[in-house]
Amino acid sequence: MTPTKTARLTIDDKTYDLPMYSPTLGPDVVDIGKLYAQADVFTFDPGFTSTAACDSTITYIDGDKGELLYRGYPIEQLAEQSHHLEVCYLLLYGELPTKTQLVDFEARVTRHTMVHEQMHYFFRGFRRDSHPMATMVGVVGAMSAFYHDSTDIADPWQREVAAIRMIAKLPTIAAMAYKYSVGQPFVYPKNSLSYAGNFLHMCFAVPCEEYVVNPILEKAMDRIMMLHADHEQNASTSTVRLAGSSGANPFACIAAGIACLWGPAHGGANQACLEMLREIGTVDRIPEFIARAKDKNDPFRLMGFGHRVYKNFDPRAKVMKESADEVLGLLGVENNPTLQVAKELERIALEDDYFISKKLYPNVDFYSGIILDAMGFPTSMFTPIFALSRTVGWISQWKEMIADKNQKIGRPRQLYIGATQRDYTAVATRG
Ligand code: CMC
Repeated sequence: MTPTKTARLTIDDKTYDLPMYSPTLGPDVVDIGKLYAQADVFTFDPGFTSTAACDSTITYIDGDKGELLYRGYPIEQLAEQSHHLEVCYLLLYGELPTKTQLVDFEARVTRHTMVHEQMHYFFRGFRRDSHPMATMVGVVGAMSAFYHDSTDIADPWQREVAAIRMIAKLPTIAAMAYKYSVGQPFVYPKNSLSYAGNFLHMCFAVPCEEYVVNPILEKAMDRIMMLHADHEQNASTSTVRLAGSSGANPFACIAAGIACLWGPAHGGANQACLEMLREIGTVDRIPEFIARAKDKNDPFRLMGFGHRVYKNFDPRAKVMKESADEVLGLLGVENNPTLQVAKELERIALEDDYFISKKLYPNVDFYSGIILDAMGFPTSMFTPIFALSRTVGWISQWKEMIADKNQKIGRPRQLYIGATQRDYTAVATRG
């Protein structure tokens, strides 16, 4: 990369020139990579609020405008006109596929949807009441044992096979985690169905009766998958990159990403949000919860509100809200009390000074749970669905990192504020 500008940093009486680079979109970056060697100082940025950890060509977010682009294409256009497997191709390879490329890609993914038969026995080691995310962290990590022939990260062919395997098998694994938790038999994938339709089938079919995929739910599921497919350097993606920077195999890295996603500040927010909306229950209780969210002494936060990057509407939330209206309307449950509470809560919060001044808007998790609930998913499946949808993003980012010649092991520094060196004393003398 060629520097476009120079930043000048003065410490005491010395000045350091720092190269700057200009992106195709977004703010310029100051390269501090040699600062420690030159000036013997570190930079300090807990939570990486101002630090670019890599360069990337995959996803761009403009948080002020509320804009999200996958490889340059606006999320609204993709949600309206594309479908999840085409978006997977776009994220993985950088361009929209030709018709032939798409047919070939879909065939490759479809041929990999089944999991190794022995995995069925592996599942049985988990307690029946395990959270499906707990099962997924374990099973995806174990994929490196089941698919050892695609763990050599130096081999581009193995990297490609691992990517296809994960995109294909994560829905199967998530559906198996669900079936296991409700005590029903696993349902094998059906290759005649679409990616989203097959997932619904694996979750809701039972051997004793015919299951017909509802096309409305299939479309809504596919849209949820597209909206969650990537989100640049968020916590779980950064976890995948950091794990991968040591040379760890891709299955282990994605398992690390799933573990990170589970937290309620990240992907776990969709479960927490629906549970919160249900706890609120009726519109008249909203002021009580708004007051709690504003109270500095109360740890309660309005789940599904706020975002590290978006200081405007999360564009995914807008599409999700439309989808919620559409799905609940078509299912004839538009008077769903949870949807009514969500809409009123959004309206009240968006007029409240606290939320306005802090630029807190609904995020992707605010409406997704309502749709998933209407589809028949328990709240514990919301985050696994986020995880299987985000798998393509994680894998695309991981592949980009591995192919980067300048890639190094991730190794942040620290501002040490602990004890200075002191001498050990024997326990008997410590009083
Ligand atoms: N409800 C009430 N107050 C909030 C909320 C909220 N949801 N979110 C942020 N704030 C307040 C926060 O208390 C702080 O106030 P103050 O400046 O007085 O200390 C201020 O807004 C800034 O918050 P922050 O925690 O410093 O901001 P952040 O960028 O570190 O956190 C966030 C972003 C998403 C973790 C946070 O907004 C949050 O916890 N939201 C609720 C959980 C949620 O919906 N997460 C899903 C995010 S989108 C999907 C995903 O990433 O997976």
